[in-house]
Amino acid sequence: MSFKIKSNIYWVGKIDWELRKFHGDEYSTHRGSSYNSYLIKEEKVALIDTVWRPFSKEFVENLSKEIDLSKIDYVIANHAENDHSGALPELMRLIPGTPIYCTKNGVKSLTGHYHQDWNFQVVKTGDKLSLGNKELIFVEAPMLHWPDSMFCYLTEDNILFSNDAFGQHYASEYMFNDLVNQNELAQECIKYYANILTPFSPLVTKKIKEVLSFNLPLDMICTSHGIIWRTKPEQIVEKYLAWADSYQENQITLVYDTMWNGTRIMAEKIADGIKASDGEVNVKLFNLAKSDKNDVITEIFKSKAILVGSPTINKGILVSVAGMLEEIKGLKFKNKKAAAFGSYGWSGESTKVITEALKSAGFEILDDGIRVLWQPDQEGNANCIEYGKAFAAGL
Ligand code: FEO
Repeated sequence: MSFKIKSNIYWVGKIDWELRKFHGDEYSTHRGSSYNSYLIKEEKVALIDTVWRPFSKEFVENLSKEIDLSKIDYVIANHAENDHSGALPELMRLIPGTPIYCTKNGVKSLTGHYHQDWNFQVVKTGDKLSLGNKELIFVEAPMLHWPDSMFCYLTEDNILFSNDAFGQHYASEYMFNDLVNQNELAQECIKYYANILTPFSPLVTKKIKEVLSFNLPLDMICTSHGIIWRTKPEQIVEKYLAWADSYQENQITLVYDTMWNGTRIMAEKIADGIKASDGEVNVKLFNLAKSDKNDVITEIFKSKAILVGSPTINKGILVSVAGMLEEIKGLKFKNKKAAAFGSYGWSGESTKVITEALKSAGFEILDDGIRVLWQPDQEGNANCIEYGKAFAAGL
């Protein structure tokens, strides 16, 4: 499958409807994904990115139906991660001397992955590559989200090829932002940002401002995952600026795990207290052992405050809670408040362990949290409700 995007530009990628886990098993992809590769057929022919390695043979076969491979003048590798560079070995075997344009770090990453002595041409921000009447302008984008990441911009057609940035893991045969279900698209965009780009938010803001300062007209953003932004492409840029700026909605999220329901009951009673104190706030609860990790991270990203709960086990906390705390430590969320809760039978360290982890993850700790001995009784329930009220009032 291939299709025309605009003038002499063709999508030659792969829609992966079956994908349910990405980055190994790290990222859930409920709606599949796509690996977008673009072929520009001007006086000179350029191929931008490829597809994930399992689809490399299929990719090269399809590409050869679109063009005689020997007519490809330039390969652009915006990013070395396997989902975009995976078909390079199969392709370069057939066109071995063709130059591959990438950043300095791209050479390191591509060589580290494939151990091939390809004809690398290093580019940096502002470098241009003539395709005849149009030019590709390169923009380095280090740590968005790898050191080697790069964008490129096609003059005359005014298209930014942004690789991972502005993408989503979203399979759709429609392939354009104005054609797909807008709620599904919005959900996949924010999930992608929350789970992949949050740690790099300061760089996101800086890079967008830099690109905007070039005053280049923008007709489309062609990302390397999901749909192509052809209608109001600036909308996703504006979203990124908002998400990069200590984003929060009027939401409080309670995440917990439970053994004999004591901590679950606490979560529900604390939520009752929050609602009693603030009728406007969106309160959501997730049992971490039963919920999708990446969906929960998206909800935490949207929250102004979170409460994290676990019963005490072996002087520590349950593994699902420990895993989430490790995740959010790396994600470096900003401008979020937090506290801990949990039931216990004898030693009762869980709230302390959680509080310390939240602190080291950069959350502002509101208080010492709340513990309940064994199962909450009438008094325990009432204490949790009062705690929830005070928590909401203290935000
Ligand atoms: Fe879609 Fe960083 O690879």
